[in-house]
Amino acid sequence: GLPRRVTIWEVGPRDGLQNESAVVPVEVKAEFLDRLAGAGLTTLEATSFVHPKWVPQLADAEELLARLEQRPGVRYPVLVPNERGLDRALAAGVRHIAVFASATETFAKRNLNSTVDDQFAMFEPVVTRARAEGLDVRGYLSMCFGDPWEGAVPAEQVVRVGTRLLDLGCSQLSLGDTIGVATPGQVDRLVGAFSEAGVAVDALAVHFHDTYGQALANTFAALRHGVSTVDSSAGGLGGCPYAESATGNLATEDLVWLLDGLGIEHGADLDALVETSVWMAGKLGRPSPSRVVKALAG
Ligand code: HMG
Ligand code: MG
Repeated sequence: GLPRRVTIWEVGPRDGLQNESAVVPVEVKAEFLDRLAGAGLTTLEATSFVHPKWVPQLADAEELLARLEQRPGVRYPVLVPNERGLDRALAAGVRHIAVFASATETFAKRNLNSTVDDQFAMFEPVVTRARAEGLDVRGYLSMCFGDPWEGAVPAEQVVRVGTRLLDLGCSQLSLGDTIGVATPGQVDRLVGAFSEAGVAVDALAVHFHDTYGQALANTFAALRHGVSTVDSSAGGLGGCPYAESATGNLATEDLVWLLDGLGIEHGADLDALVETSVWMAGKLGRPSPSRVVKALAG
């Protein structure tokens, strides 16, 4: 059944801004994060410690964290692909990290210059060291539904790779529809397949991109299984530079509207979110694609 409360895992500052062609000044990023915290969000994925040539948009990770005034009660997780990234994150005082795996070979190559097997060799020392330092480690899994090069991805393949991430020591597994092609029946089957494999629903999160307009319906399908962590980005910013045809994430405002309608607690202030997304759209020079932002911004 539906959860009583949902944790919104805000990915706009990371997944959103990693895909913007406009250069966003570091002080704008810091203000964006602070506005999101002010809107009541308590999990803000701030940036990535990846190779700066691979994702130039987030090359200012150190500077951003140094500048950011972290608020009490707010987590600021970052993406870390390898030990070099972990060194950088630890030096910046990070307490929450996420490794990010691919369910498919093609995307493992394109996103991590690795293979499905070798990515685990890369993550293993990261997770072990991070946990020894007392950090929380989330595991992302990309291409859980469809892959632009390989087509539909079988649920058994996703469960096999996903359970490996949990076995490695990740506290949570976020199931990514990187290119936004999933439909609710597929979500229902995949979440069901994880349950059958013995994975507790509390260990799962969902991460939908909205390319085909299905992100909210897919989220509802996951909520009905009791999934209680949902990734979204303010204003629907986002994409992935290494996956063609990936557009923005589920908009946080659209998620909040759904949760409010269902009577599910989340702790966010919708008006403050809309105001933040309108402000950010001004900085980016294009309107937010979120339907709820459009409806409420007037
Ligand atoms: P590589 O080129 O194979 O790296 O890239 P390497 O290990 O061979 O190292 C080459 C050089 O890079 C070395 O320097 C390293 O020190 C340096 P040199 O010795 O030549 O001077 N290096 C680094 N420098 C800074 N920070 C680092 C780092 N690592 C190596 N962390 C690598 C492999 C994994 C680094 C690269 O492929 C990479 O950075 N990939 C990240 C791609 C990315 O960020 N994609 C977007 C995030 S994933 C996503 O959006 C999906 C998600 O939203 C879920 C969904 O929607 O499905 C999470
Ligand atoms: Mg993503």
